[in-house]
Amino acid sequence: MINCKEVSKSFGEHKVLDKVSFDVPEGVIVGLLGPSGAGKTTLINILTGQLTFDAGEVSVMNKDVNKLKGADKDKFGIMMDRFGLYERFTCAENLAVFADVYGINKSNIKESLASVGLEDAAKTKAADLSKGMRARLLLARALLHDPKIIFLDEPTSGLDPKSVKGIHEIIQNKKKEGCTIFLTTHNMDEATKLCDDVMLLNEGNIVERGRPSDLCRKYNKDKKIKVTMKDGSDGEYKQNADAADKIAELIRQGSLETIHSEEPTLETIFLELTGKKLEED
Ligand SMILES: Nc1ncnc2c1ncn2[C@@H]1O[C@H](COP(=O)(O)OP(=O)(O)OP(=O)(O)O)[C@@H](O)[C@H]1O
Ligand SMILES: [Mg+2]
Repeated sequence: MINCKEVSKSFGEHKVLDKVSFDVPEGVIVGLLGPSGAGKTTLINILTGQLTFDAGEVSVMNKDVNKLKGADKDKFGIMMDRFGLYERFTCAENLAVFADVYGINKSNIKESLASVGLEDAAKTKAADLSKGMRARLLLARALLHDPKIIFLDEPTSGLDPKSVKGIHEIIQNKKKEGCTIFLTTHNMDEATKLCDDVMLLNEGNIVERGRPSDLCRKYNKDKKIKVTMKDGSDGEYKQNADAADKIAELIRQGSLETIHSEEPTLETIFLELTGKKLEED
């Protein structure tokens, strides 16, 4: 669905993307992770034909982005920021304006609001929405024309856990319908739960890519096991025969409460690869 080949982009002297290459197959959720300023938004702008680039090739749905026409771009669902709503218009009116611009049948508006849990807010003005509701309205707008490919730039940043969960469900439902989703996030927990595939962007390059669980296994060099006893104390073991005997003994004694393998998180992997934190404090 997306083909990005050796794409470079500089702003003046500042090289933001340096020969970035990747493919995105159909029907997956891909997460682009990277610290602030890594170039995530820049890359999404390039992939959606909103920003020119200096070198390389990009095609989306088998079309060169440099040659995309309005009608091609209409096939993309894009949620880039929290602006662009008509504040004095209601939720339904906001979607109606968008439907007008894109020539979409307005009969879908009610259903579209319901699909993001905003059925009761159809008559609420955009200015009166909470942050989470606002994000859901923007998502509904991005999905209104039933796009096959969806670009989401930090769809859940700054939202409460319930809103985040709601948005994750919507994204997962879109995947079930066969859509391809490309999203950026700072949140490694989100990436682990939601994405089939993550790419770590750092200083203009993709430094690692894979399934979150595969990456966590790949970087699991220490292979530690953490145990908690019934008396509340805990301990850590290296995964070896000696530890197996000790842990077996704890189980026999009936003193073991919980046991977990301690794989690194995406956050630790990113820190190891780049020396930088993924999430801001
Ligand atoms: N229009 C522009 N003109 C000049 N510099 C820009 C422009 N857009 C982005 N940049 C620079 O490019 C770099 C990458 O910015 P970008 O917004 O893509 O990062 P990001 O990974 O999306 O960061 P964040 O996580 O904070 O959203 C930054 O150093 C930024 O200052
Ligand atoms: Mg950004």
